[in-house]
Amino acid sequence: MLEKIEKLTAEIESLQVANAEELEVLRIKYLSKKGEIPLLFNDFRNVPNEQKKEIGQKLNVLKTFATDKINALREAFDEKKNDDDTIDLTRSAAPTPLGTRHPISLVREEIINIFSRLGFTLAEGPEVEDDWHVFGAMNFADDHPARDMQDTFFIQRNPADVLLRTHTSSVQSRVMENSQPPIRIICPGRVYRNEAISYRAHCFFHQVEALYVDKNVSFTDLKQVLLYFAREMFGPETQIRLRPSYFPFTEPSAEMDISCNLCGGKGCAFCKNTGWVEILGCGMVDPNVLEACGIDSKQYTGYALGMGIERITNLKYRVKDLRMFSENDVRFLEEFESAH
Ligand code: DAH
Repeated sequence: MLEKIEKLTAEIESLQVANAEELEVLRIKYLSKKGEIPLLFNDFRNVPNEQKKEIGQKLNVLKTFATDKINALREAFDEKKNDDDTIDLTRSAAPTPLGTRHPISLVREEIINIFSRLGFTLAEGPEVEDDWHVFGAMNFADDHPARDMQDTFFIQRNPADVLLRTHTSSVQSRVMENSQPPIRIICPGRVYRNEAISYRAHCFFHQVEALYVDKNVSFTDLKQVLLYFAREMFGPETQIRLRPSYFPFTEPSAEMDISCNLCGGKGCAFCKNTGWVEILGCGMVDPNVLEACGIDSKQYTGYALGMGIERITNLKYRVKDLRMFSENDVRFLEEFESAH
């Protein structure tokens, strides 16, 4: 009997199972009513009295050991089974939701692409600027209203005025100061103005500036580039119209309208029945600006143009409220998913 108990103990100790069926077979073999251990208990009757105490104890230990072992195997097996259930290896990896690009970024890239096809290269300048690069070198009179606190955010007043640039024309002066013609640059960036915020004005917005300075640059060159830009941006049917205007840094100056891209020029509420919408300012670089930046105005001429990116974006996507651009409302931003 003792031998049998020892043999069974060793056997049970080394038990391994691969699945639930195997485990059940073992449970029946050792622990069911007719299993090996209950049969030993049946034989216990025949054990001589003087051995009953010792053998009885050992039998009980064996039974507990076998029960624990079978339970432990079942638990290990159940855990494995649960793991298998939660990991579905046939499922595709968790999808990472893709963000969308901001409409201002989309339009900025498009403008840059159009100009880079004409040989313009990217230039950037600081948003925190000084009076000279924003106004002085750009031929603004000392008493020009743009220099007023009402229009411009000043960080530090005299002696050296430090301010937030009000236009990207400041990049023109920085580039011309540091290089000689031919200069052909496109400068996108954020600008700041001291405006009350409403659906059509904001204290910051974005502009793109283009500048071309070389020998024999004429207004005709400017006009051709403007027409190319308008048609690339708004479609091949687009017409342009130039109206005389004034900017301190260009002479002559003009504002450009495109034929209304909503009604095709017939006249609608959007273009106030004129058939035209304004999109940018431009002109021939004033010789004073060239000279202020160290470029010989007798040898070189140039043209410049500047436009608001929000304005172009409005024309392309009809965003009615400027504030939408800076509110980060995901529902608005997701609208531009298909524009990528
Ligand atoms: N700087 C002007 C503005 O902020 C836009 C502009 C007009 C830029 C004419 C130019 C230009 O380069 O030639 O309104």
